[in-house]
Formats: sequence, structure tokens, C-alpha cells
Amino acid sequence: MAARSVDNRKAPMPQKILVLFAHPAYRRSRSNRALRAAVEALDGVTFHDLYETYPDFAVDVDREQALLAEHDVIVCLHPFFWYSAPALVKEWLDLVLEHGWAYGHEGRQLEGKRWLQAVTVGGRQAAYSPAGHHRYTVEELLRPFEATVSLCRMTWLPPFVLHATHVADASALDDAAARFAARLSDLVAETT
Ligand SMILES: Cc1cc2nc3c(=O)[nH]c(=O)nc-3n(C[C@H](O)[C@H](O)[C@H](O)COP(=O)(O)O)c2cc1C
Repeated sequence: MAARSVDNRKAPMPQKILVLFAHPAYRRSRSNRALRAAVEALDGVTFHDLYETYPDFAVDVDREQALLAEHDVIVCLHPFFWYSAPALVKEWLDLVLEHGWAYGHEGRQLEGKRWLQAVTVGGRQAAYSPAGHHRYTVEELLRPFEATVSLCRMTWLPPFVLHATHVADASALDDAAARFAARLSDLVAETT
């Protein structure tokens, strides 16, 4: 009888992505609107609009922790505000990433998950350099997020950055939206 070969390689499991979206003036948004439209309906993506859910900043910690637990990759999508994120992102971090749950000796609920910061930035890339107007790269300015992610034993992925939003025309936004959708599709397929 001919021996049957058994293929022991497992197909990669599709990864579940949670997009935490924060924009306090979404009605006036162009860049985040384009990025949102490109990924909101993708298979494997849960899109969670924080300002829509918590206009009063009363973040439901249990609900947010349950959402985090159900997903493999967390994407934090927001406009760059004062070299950081809109205020509700900070409130969300302060409340949801509890000691003993997200970090600390017993806090291992986020261990092994991956985190992608996705930011739209008014300034041009050249201005975000040691010799440039803003002196630091966006990646450097995102270090407090990177350190937070690392403290929670998650993996920090190279950020997605859309620069020069003030001058981005429709084709630049289309381009960025396509790049963002491709990045998230790759993450669902676990190829990045
Ligand atoms: C309160 C506030 C702070 C901002 N801070 C920065 C900043 O530090 N650096 C920067 O390049 N752009 C900054 N911007 C510009 C926004 O990043 C930009 O308008 C946004 O990313 C565009 O996205 P949208 O079309 O989705 O609103 C700021 C805008 C606002 C309203």
C-alpha cells in the first residue's frame, strides 16, 4: 500500500483585528474618513469609534477589556494632536489598562497581542526629522505608546503614518487608504 504523506503544517489562523478609532471632530475629517472607509468592512476587522461610544468620556472598562480579549491585533487609529493622540485615547489607556489585568506581575491578559498605531499627521515627513521643524520623527514621538504596549507584553508593530494631511489631495488619500487596507489585510492573514 502506498504511504500517504501527511501535511502537518497548519494553515495560519485569521487574526481578529480591533480598530480603536478616536477623532473628536469626525464631521470635519478627511484623512481618517478615508482610512476608515477603506477598512471598516474588511473581514476580521471590528471597528470601534471611541468618541461616538463615549462622548462623555465615561469609558466602560469591562466592555473595553472584553473587546481587547476577543482580538489578536489592536489598531489605534487617530489624528496626531500635539505630538500625541486626542484626549479620549489617554483616558481610555488610563482606565482600561488596569494593573493586575494589563500589566504587573499578574497582569497578562494582553500578552502576545500585537499593537499598531495608525496616525494621520498634519506636518510633512521632512519636517519630522532631527533637522526639521518638529525635530523628532513621528516614530520617536510615539515612544510613550510603544513603552505602554511593551509594558503590557504586547508586540509594537511599525506604525502606519499618513503625513501632510493639510495638503493631501483626493489621490493621496486614496493611495493612503489602499496602503492602510493592505496593511490590515496582511495582519488578518498574519503575514506581517
Ligand atoms: C488640536 C490639534 C492638534 C494638532 N497637533 C498636531 C501636531 O502636533 N502635529 C501635526 O503634524 N499636526 C497636528 N494637527 C493636525 C492634525 O494632525 C490633522 O489635521 C489631522 O491628522 C487630519 O486628519 P483628519 O482629516 O482626519 O481630521 C493637530 C490638529 C489639531 C486640531
